[in-house]
This record gives sequence, C-alpha cells and structure tokens, in this order.
Amino acid sequence: MPKKKIILSGMRPTGKLHLGHWAGALENWVALQNDGGYSNYHIIADYHALTTKLDTSHIYEYSINMLLDWLAAGVDPAHSPVFRQSQVKEHAELHLIFSMLITKSRLERNPTLKEQVRDLDLGPISYGYLGYPVLQAGDILLYKGEVVPVGEDQLPHIEITREIARDFNRQYGNVFPEPEGKLTQFSRLPGLDGRRMSKSLGNTIFLSDPAEEVTKKMKKAVTDPQKLRKGDPGRPDVCLVFTYHKKFNLSEEEEIRRGCESGQLGCVDCKLRAAERLNRFLNPLRERRRQYENAPEEVEKILKNGEAQAREVARKTMQDVHQAMKMG
Ligand code: TRP
Repeated sequence: MPKKKIILSGMRPTGKLHLGHWAGALENWVALQNDGGYSNYHIIADYHALTTKLDTSHIYEYSINMLLDWLAAGVDPAHSPVFRQSQVKEHAELHLIFSMLITKSRLERNPTLKEQVRDLDLGPISYGYLGYPVLQAGDILLYKGEVVPVGEDQLPHIEITREIARDFNRQYGNVFPEPEGKLTQFSRLPGLDGRRMSKSLGNTIFLSDPAEEVTKKMKKAVTDPQKLRKGDPGRPDVCLVFTYHKKFNLSEEEEIRRGCESGQLGCVDCKLRAAERLNRFLNPLRERRRQYENAPEEVEKILKNGEAQAREVARKTMQDVHQAMKMG
C-alpha cells in the first residue's frame, strides 16, 4: 500500500465556526480524511490566538467549542488526532529554530499581515505577531505535513512554510517535505451581505445556528439589486443566494436559475428554498454536536488522546531535527 500523505491543518480558537469555515477548509478536511489516502492531524492553534488577543480567560472554552464544531462537521478523532498547540511543547522549540531561518523583511512583506494591519485596528505589531507564519510553519512541519487544506487567505503562510522547509533542508540536511496548500472549490463563500463571511461583519451563518435562525438570516440576504419584485427577471450569476444554491442545492440549481431568469421565481421563495436546503445539510451536524455536547468527558478524552499522539510524532521529528543539526 502506498504511504498515506500527511495532512496538517488547523484554526485559531476564536469562537463558533461558520459556513465560511466549512466551505473554505473543514469540508476538505473531512473529505480527505474519508478518502483513505491521507493521515490527518488537526491543530487548535491557541498560541496563534494570542497574536491578536492576549486575554486567555476564555481560551479553553473557545477551544472546546471549536472542537465541537469540528466533530459535528465530521472530523473523526479515531482517524484524525486533534490537539492544542500549547500542549505540545515542541511547537515552541521548532518555532525558535525556524525564526533564525527567515528575515524580518520577508515577514513584513507577508500580504496577510499587511491586509490585517490595513483592515483591523491592531496598534503596534508584536514580535510574536510578526512571526505568526513562522509558528505556523512549525505547526505544519512538526508533523511533516505534506498537504494543508486551508482557505485562500492562508496561502501566503504556506509559501513561507515551503521557504523555511527548503532553507532548513539546504542548511542541515533533508528533514522536511515542502507542503502544498489545498483549496476547496468555494474557498471563499461570501457572507449574507455579499462581503467576505466574517463574525466581525455580522454576516455569518454559524454551523450551530438553529434552523429558525438560519431561515431568518437567509431572508435578509442580499439578492440581485435589479430584481425588485416577483416577475422581474433576475441574474443568478450576480445573486448571492444563487451562490448558496450552487453550493448546497446542486440538484435544483438549473431549475432555480430558470425560475429566477424568467421572473417566475420570486426572491422570497428562492431564499426559503435555500434555507431549507441549508438546514437539511446542517441537521446531521446539529445532531452530532448535540451528542458530543452531552458527553463532555468524552470530548476531553478525545483531546487528551489527540495530544498524546501529536506529542509522539513531534518528539520523533525533533529527534530528526537535532540529529540533522548535530545538536543531539
Ligand atoms: N493561520 C490559520 C488561520 O488563521 C490557523 C493555523 C494555525 C493553521 N496553524 C496552522 C492552518 C497550520 C493550517 C496549518 O486560519
């Protein structure tokens, strides 16, 4: 049997996950996990969360909540260890070594950083925040990750990871693979106002939203501004709600398109149908979430097991690193 490819991906524990997280990354994690040809590791990047928020009083709660969303979405801990970054000390060590292999100016050119500095009111940038992608490179390479399913915004960090892997290998000998990013088809599912889906913009549908909430939110979604009332012909390709049909209602896509273009299908009905399909998609997630919510000790055990497995892999990689560096 060919060797399974290693997948490493993760998220910062910043709160409930929404459909953008699902469409951008989670969907791929689960599909690749179930494909059989990969071995997945999923990291709860709690140290990364510190780069934008020093207050850690809720970090455990956020981590568990995010884990519940992952499990609800189909991450199977029997196949895919899940763990907190802070519980595997080797992350800090590899980050330190990698920090010598990259220049300050390379990190200052990181487009994700530039975007955040522009969009968010961050104040002065900490040393750790500048090094965000270096910590992330450590996350990926500590497990010798080869495939990194993420959203589009993370690709610059994967490029930095590749550069670090290459530089380490050139300097000390071949220890690390050069990982590749992997995007989903809908790597950017827009929010209900047509902008990027983001909690801070208030345009999200959460994976844990109850059905009525989803319907209520969908009713407020923007549509083709030229279609004012039923009877007006609409343009599905500029309509946000149609994007949701394409993603969650493939079997009716063509019928919806025709209805919209001819004017026969009004926006209200179209939205209700989208909400109905979305709820059909979300129902099994809600059910799985409820089961795990009712078994908090099991969730804790899943995390502890995942952390033990991750530590084992991390320890071995660091042996390779020390050996290559003649610091064994
Ligand atoms: N930077 C990622 C994000 O903000 C989270 C992350 C941390 C990550 N470490 C990772 C993603 C390693 C992929 C691989 O979403």
